[in-house]
Amino acid sequence: MGTDRVESVATCEPSLFDGHPRMQAIRSIIESIADTDTTVLIRGESGVGKDLIARAVHAASARRQGPFVKVNCAAIPQELLESELFGHEKGAFTGAHRRKPGQFEFANMGTIYLDEIGELPLALQAKLLHVLQDFRFSRVGGHLPIDVDARVIAATNRRLEEAMAQGEFREDLYYRLNVVEIQVPPLRERREEIPGLVAWFLAKFNAQYGRQKTLSAETLARLTAYPWSGNVRELENIIRRMVVLADGEQAFEAQFARSRGARTVHPQPSPSVTESLREIARRGAREAERHALSEVLERVRWNRAEASRILKVSYKTLLTKIAECELTAPARRLS
Ligand SMILES: Nc1ncnc2c1ncn2[C@@H]1O[C@H](COP(=O)(O)OP(=O)(O)OP(=O)(O)O)[C@@H](O)[C@H]1O
Ligand SMILES: [Mg+2]
Repeated sequence: MGTDRVESVATCEPSLFDGHPRMQAIRSIIESIADTDTTVLIRGESGVGKDLIARAVHAASARRQGPFVKVNCAAIPQELLESELFGHEKGAFTGAHRRKPGQFEFANMGTIYLDEIGELPLALQAKLLHVLQDFRFSRVGGHLPIDVDARVIAATNRRLEEAMAQGEFREDLYYRLNVVEIQVPPLRERREEIPGLVAWFLAKFNAQYGRQKTLSAETLARLTAYPWSGNVRELENIIRRMVVLADGEQAFEAQFARSRGARTVHPQPSPSVTESLREIARRGAREAERHALSEVLERVRWNRAEASRILKVSYKTLLTKIAECELTAPARRLS
């Protein structure tokens, strides 16, 4: 292998919170609520790492020795969800042959993590709201009040505000859950983390599958610039494929080209062997920025005021970026 290949040098998981200022801000939130029992709502696209953050909140809390119980509200059929969360008494419904405690009881003295909370049916939203008020409930088919001491963390990738507007999510529950909100940015907004994650997954899958796969610097530059709509989970799967399949790198090259649409993809200039991961990442990020900028400008027919609104940068910053990326408006559209 040439010396310009990226070796799987990472030996430990990249810290969730070291890579990007927005992740560092999340760490500060977690530290500042470590000694409280506040309810936390974690938001972010699928695959950004919400589960890991929920575990980090639990691990930082005084409850860390207690259980961490995860319930995926979307994965359990609606008619079974109430019993899953709160348990049932014998004979509560057909098939309830014996009393069964619910996940809230298992989470006693610990944390219950309600994933995909946006999928919770309205009737259960009402029950959950009551539980959050006094941490007392009864099992399905029972009357005996049960007290639990559990911290609640909820997560969603749904726009709850829209669900509320459509009457699908209770506003009172939203405010009760949203005491502390952690918004996890998508991977494309924290590209600096990509090289570290790549090295970590490479090391992990090389060890798992007994391989010694290395990646070319070109592949790393592409990985850094790719849009990652599936976030870290997608990155993890791509690296797994690259380790397992002989043509994994070429397959990703084709996928990368497709992601650039009809635009001809010019191969990235081969980085010099002395180029650091940081420089490769920076170059990838610049390339991605240029791509996004030109796409938006095309879409709004080079209306710069409109583009600056869409990209959430000032008009002045937009002009600087256009100049830095050496983009020029098509002559016919120049006003
Ligand atoms: N910083 C990270 N370091 C290492 N692995 C990570 C990191 N962030 C996420 N992952 C991995 O990415 C995958 C997706 O993460 P996770 O399940 O936490 O996402 P999620 O936001 O809960 O997604 P979903 O909304 O689909 O449930 C997991 O395999 C997780 O281990
Ligand atoms: Mg999850």
